[in-house]
Amino acid sequence: MQSKFSILFIMNSTLAFDVYGTLIDTGGVYKMLEIKVGTLAQAFMEIWRAKQLEYSFRRGLMQNYVSFSISTKQSLDFTCLQLNVEFSQQGKSELMHQYTILPTFADVADSLQMLKAANYRLFAFSNGKEDDVRVLLQNAGVLHFFEDVVSVDDVKTFKPSPVVYEHFLKKSMSLKTNSWLISGNPFDVTGAISAGMRAVWVKRDPKSHFDPWEIQPTETINKLSDLIRVLIAQGR
Ligand code: LAC
Repeated sequence: MQSKFSILFIMNSTLAFDVYGTLIDTGGVYKMLEIKVGTLAQAFMEIWRAKQLEYSFRRGLMQNYVSFSISTKQSLDFTCLQLNVEFSQQGKSELMHQYTILPTFADVADSLQMLKAANYRLFAFSNGKEDDVRVLLQNAGVLHFFEDVVSVDDVKTFKPSPVVYEHFLKKSMSLKTNSWLISGNPFDVTGAISAGMRAVWVKRDPKSHFDPWEIQPTETINKLSDLIRVLIAQGR
């Protein structure tokens, strides 16, 4: 017979939080960029982030894995070339360091606190290497909310490969039907749903659009503090 504890454990929903762009605000590099490149800061930030993701997609398709921080560094180099900006090695190192001390979005700590108190199982699930993600979340003051950090690095490919979502379920010992990806990145939401999970899109920018595919988010919220409400409404 199952113990009371194991029944509870099986019933508690698992929440896999994407890190960059969902918990952590990659816009945190903006201030330093403004000092370094002035009016080019916004364009710099956008190209850097878009290229970082593009490189991870391409690496995944090519089956030529390097860690996410290498994509971050190589996309930084690309952005300098594209915008004709020259940094010293020290300048680039400062920007790369800034990527390890990014802040959370304002609603993150309170929302995680609330979800943990409600007994959801919370995981950070990222393209970043486990150690890098732990340092990042520790620096941002939210690591202690998570049961574990799961990285794609274990399986040497990137989101949205189905391999990484399967890996997440295995490592967290969760069932597909009881597991939710929470992400601000549409490609991550479609990836998780395509792999059989449920997924909530955190639409942080009101002007952003979800890809008009046949796969749509199970739920959409504008801020993380709304998550508990939609999970309860879903019977979770
Ligand atoms: C991550 C990137 C995709 O943290 O935001 O996995």
